[in-house]
Amino acid sequence: MLPETTPEDDGTTTQPPARDRRPPDRVVLRADLRAALPDASAAVVVTAAVFMFLYARMESGDSATVAVMPFMDDPGTYWMYLLSQAFGWSGLLWAWGTVMLGLLLSGPRPARLPVSRQALERLHRTTSLTTMALMSAHALMFAAELVRYEAQLAWAERLWAGFADTFVPGWYDSGTGRIAIPLGQGALYLAIPLGLLFYVRHRIGANTWRRLHRFVIVVYVLSVWHTLLYGTNVWYGEWPRTVLWLLQLPVAALLLARLLRPARRAERLGAPTRREGGALPGWVARAAGRVAAVAVVVGLLLVVVSGHDGGRERPAEPSSTSPHVHEPE
Ligand code: HEM
Repeated sequence: MLPETTPEDDGTTTQPPARDRRPPDRVVLRADLRAALPDASAAVVVTAAVFMFLYARMESGDSATVAVMPFMDDPGTYWMYLLSQAFGWSGLLWAWGTVMLGLLLSGPRPARLPVSRQALERLHRTTSLTTMALMSAHALMFAAELVRYEAQLAWAERLWAGFADTFVPGWYDSGTGRIAIPLGQGALYLAIPLGLLFYVRHRIGANTWRRLHRFVIVVYVLSVWHTLLYGTNVWYGEWPRTVLWLLQLPVAALLLARLLRPARRAERLGAPTRREGGALPGWVARAAGRVAAVAVVVGLLLVVVSGHDGGRERPAEPSSTSPHVHEPE
């Protein structure tokens, strides 16, 4: 979730003074963590607002989560679950923002930007750090809720159950979670190294970092997939699910623009015959990437226009197809 080009890479910024002997990697991470504070504070405010919204909906009887899992009809008891959901939403929103910024920075350069490119790059880095924290908080609150829930077990078993169901791929073995939880884990476990590698790029080489960093789009796709599959607040074919699908259109459009007109000349797709060194497989892969991006844009438009978005009908009676097959307490 960090920029493809950095001031350091293209040599446009001045070097740190010779007296500063600190490794540049550490300077940047510390500075970015400090710079992320306003951004992270905004994320806390957004999370709190989402939490209150979900809490109020549960209290009023409008909660889709309760429609899917009727035993949860008690926000006072299930507040940690609601907080986990709220962190999930702020995490996804921040992931959306940081991916959009990354694509803006690595795609066709807009003629005019309201802020400097360096400010955008810094914002991309700080929102990326905040996203990792929000994703982790979402998973941790889910683990905490599981620990609370398993009250009949001894403490060691409770802690293990919460940890394993949340963090060990393949451990969670009920309902839709058998697929959806590993998707979320995949997103979380990829996001952290792919995001933090930026700060050691002087050791691994800028090219290696750049190549690996590209896979961050996979993190985003896994996050959205996980949400569409498992989020009970987008379980039914109602407005929240429609909004979630709609939000993916600008991402797909920017991704397509970034692939068609990358900021870095070396990434442009020339004619295959003119390329040196038998690079045809690479050319085919890059061309396939562009075709796939077009297919994604068309697919998203079809989903939004047709309304076939995978949402279920909200039943008049409580659902019998809960994603989490918990027994009522
Ligand atoms: C260890 C990794 C993860 C675990 C164990 C996990 C667990 C869960 C669970 C159990 C739900 C269902 C909540 C519900 O009933 O609605 C859920 C939903 C959700 N998750 Fe995750 N998740 C993980 C990673 C992620 C990541 C990386 C994101 C990206 C930001 C994410 C975003 C969301 C969102 C937005 C929802 C929808 C919540 C709602 O419907 O209100 N999750 N996750």
